[in-house]
Amino acid sequence: DRPCRILAIETSCDETAVAIVEDGTKVLVSLISSQIETHRQFGGVVPEVASRKHVESITRIIEDALNEADMTLRDMDAIAVTQGPGLIGALLIGSVAAKALALSAGLPLIAVHHIAGHIYANRLVQPLAYPLLALVVSGGHTELVSIERPGRFEIIGRTRDDAVGEAYDKVARALGFPYPGGPHVDRLAVESAQVMPLPRAWLEPGSYDFSFSGLKSAVLAALNTAKMKGEAVDPAALARGFQESVIDVLVEKSMRAVKALGAKQLLLCGGVAANKGLRTALAARCEAEGVPLAVPPLALCTDNAAMIGAAAYLKWQTGEFADLNFKAEPGLSL
Ligand code: KG4
Ligand code: ZN
Repeated sequence: DRPCRILAIETSCDETAVAIVEDGTKVLVSLISSQIETHRQFGGVVPEVASRKHVESITRIIEDALNEADMTLRDMDAIAVTQGPGLIGALLIGSVAAKALALSAGLPLIAVHHIAGHIYANRLVQPLAYPLLALVVSGGHTELVSIERPGRFEIIGRTRDDAVGEAYDKVARALGFPYPGGPHVDRLAVESAQVMPLPRAWLEPGSYDFSFSGLKSAVLAALNTAKMKGEAVDPAALARGFQESVIDVLVEKSMRAVKALGAKQLLLCGGVAANKGLRTALAARCEAEGVPLAVPPLALCTDNAAMIGAAAYLKWQTGEFADLNFKAEPGLSL
């Protein structure tokens, strides 16, 4: 019998993405049309512009994906789409496209949580060992998710203010980098020999929550003070100080949670999982403490549709299909 093929769509933010995934593990094709160039002139994602761009490209990208795989809708077993969280206008374009495909081809529909997608991006790389812990770090999320068995998510820690990626982008902006600035700060930080000392928010003992707004404010204050005094700030030392503060807390809390939960594996997921400093620090700590770590390749860290296809396969296996009337939900919980 042939494998299960899922055509997956992701349009939660500023990437129009379509992929075809076999059995939740093998990516046949994964296409991403990024709108970053369009949004860059505004210094961030403009929701209305994002929706229009999704409308312009979604049909073409679906066709391209099928052509590239040399397949038609008849070769698919299901259509999957990100239901939320994300920008409502952007989510709507993906879900309407998915519903139209499912209806016209008589295929079942699978609604996927964006973060479940980021988590299951790891399944495209290697088998997972449960119970596991996922550290999800992206532009909109910073969460520690305990997963006892496939598809059972429990958020044990989350940011109380800024998401990590958001803090990166704001610091990058203050340093004069274009949106999205995370990768620029990362590059600058790994080059520096100097470290500007900056605060770390550990919160109450035992808490797995995070807070990055104080750190971000400390960076902005340091830049302002220097400007007022007419002094120069070493941007690389600042980037490294910021990055080390972020990484210290992320790594330490993840390791504590792994131990407390007896997790067999730690997954690093989301756009900020592309961060070199974080990947290196987490790998070193896991190696030292004998914790198996899974980190997706860079292309699967930032938003893509292959990860949505991987997460959808879990629901395919349990027959958890969505109704044609399902609603895109900007604040969907995991
Ligand atoms: O997962 P993602 O593509 O979109 C969301 O779901 O939010 O994450 C995008 C975020 C942006 O904030 C971007 O600056 C950040 O991931 N990012 C990075 C790096 N690469 C992407 N942050 C730090 N270092 C990086 N290398
Ligand atoms: Zn994302």
